[in-house]
Amino acid sequence: KKDIRILAYESSCDETSTSVVKNGREVESLIVATQIKSHQRFGGVVPEVASRHHIEVISQITKEALQKANATWNDIDAIAVTYGPGLVGALLIGVSAAKAASMATGIPLIGVDHIMGHIMAAQLTAEIEYPALALQVSGGHTEIVLLKDPTHFEIVGDTRDDAAGEAYDKIGRVLGVNYPAGKTIDEWAHQGNDTFHFPRAMMEDDDYDFSFSGLKSAFINTCHHADQIHQELNKFDLAASFQAAVVDVLAHKTIRAIKQYQPRTFIMGGGVAANRGLRERMEEEIANLPHNIKPKVILPDLKLCGDNAAMIGAAAYNLYQDHQFADLTLNADPSLEL
Ligand code: KG4
Ligand code: ZN
Repeated sequence: KKDIRILAYESSCDETSTSVVKNGREVESLIVATQIKSHQRFGGVVPEVASRHHIEVISQITKEALQKANATWNDIDAIAVTYGPGLVGALLIGVSAAKAASMATGIPLIGVDHIMGHIMAAQLTAEIEYPALALQVSGGHTEIVLLKDPTHFEIVGDTRDDAAGEAYDKIGRVLGVNYPAGKTIDEWAHQGNDTFHFPRAMMEDDDYDFSFSGLKSAFINTCHHADQIHQELNKFDLAASFQAAVVDVLAHKTIRAIKQYQPRTFIMGGGVAANRGLRERMEEEIANLPHNIKPKVILPDLKLCGDNAAMIGAAAYNLYQDHQFADLTLNADPSLEL
C-alpha cells in the first residue's frame, strides 16, 4: 500500500505553520513561526499584525517543510489547510497559499476545521480507537466532543462564555503576566495552594457545558479589593486557586461525560491540554474509573497542543481516506462549526 504524504498549512491565529505528515501518523517535518513577541506589547493578538506576519513567512516555510521532509511537490498526495474557525485575515493567508499551490501543481486540496485538527493531534501520539471522547481546551474553545469515527464529530458540551485559555490569559494580565499567560500561571500554580476557594460554576448542572466568566470576575474582584486596602496577595496561591477551580470543573464534567458515553479512547487537545495540573488530574481520575468503562488515554505531546500544522495534516489524512476534498472555491470561514 502506498504511503500518503500531506503538506499542511495552519495560520488561523498567531502561529504560521507548515508540516509534512505521512499516513496521518508520522510527522516528517514541522515548522512553527511564532509571532507572539509582536503581539505581546498589545496584551493579545492584533489581527492585522497577524496577517502581515503570515504573509511574510508562508512561502519560505513551505519550502522548509518540504526540504526537512526530504520531499518535493511530486511526493505530496494532498495539500491541507485550516479554513476556520479563527481570524478571517489570518485564515485567508493560509487558504490562499494552499489554493495557489494546489492550482500550480494539480495536487488535491483539503480544507480542515481547526478544532478537528487540535483533536487529531492525538493521532500523532497513539492510535485512536472509536468511539472516542475529546476534551478540547484552547484559547478560543472549550468543548467536549464525541468522535463516532475519524471524520464525524458531535459537540456534547461547550462553554457559555469565556474559553478556558482565554480565562487564563485574562487573569494573567491582572497578575502582570505576558500574553499568552497559561504556561506561567500553570508553573506558579505548582508553587502555591488553593487558599482562595474561587467558585466552581455549573458543577452540579445536568449537562456538559462550562462557564468561566464568574471565576474570572471573582479572581479580578479579589485582586482589586486587596489593592484598595493595600494588601499583598501571594501570586502563587492566586494561581493555584484559579487553576484548582478550572481543573475541578473540567475534570468533573469530562468524567461524567465519559461515564455516559463510555468511549474507547479519551483525548485531550488544544493549548490548555498542555496544562500539567489538568493532565495529571485527568490521568488520575481515569485511572480510578471501573475497569469496564476505563478508556485508553491519549494526551498529545506538549509541542502538538498549541497551534501547529502537523495536527492539520493528521486530520486531513482522515478526510483524504473519506474522499472529502475541497475545490478552489474553498474560503476562510471565521466562525466555522464542527
Ligand atoms: O490552541 P491554542 O494554541 O490556540 C487556540 O486555538 O486558541 O491555545 C492557546 C491558549 C492560550 O490561551 C494559552 O494561555 C493557553 O492555550 N495555554 C495554557 C498552557 N499553555 C498554553 N493554559 C494553561 N496551561 C498551560 N500550560
Ligand atoms: Zn488553536
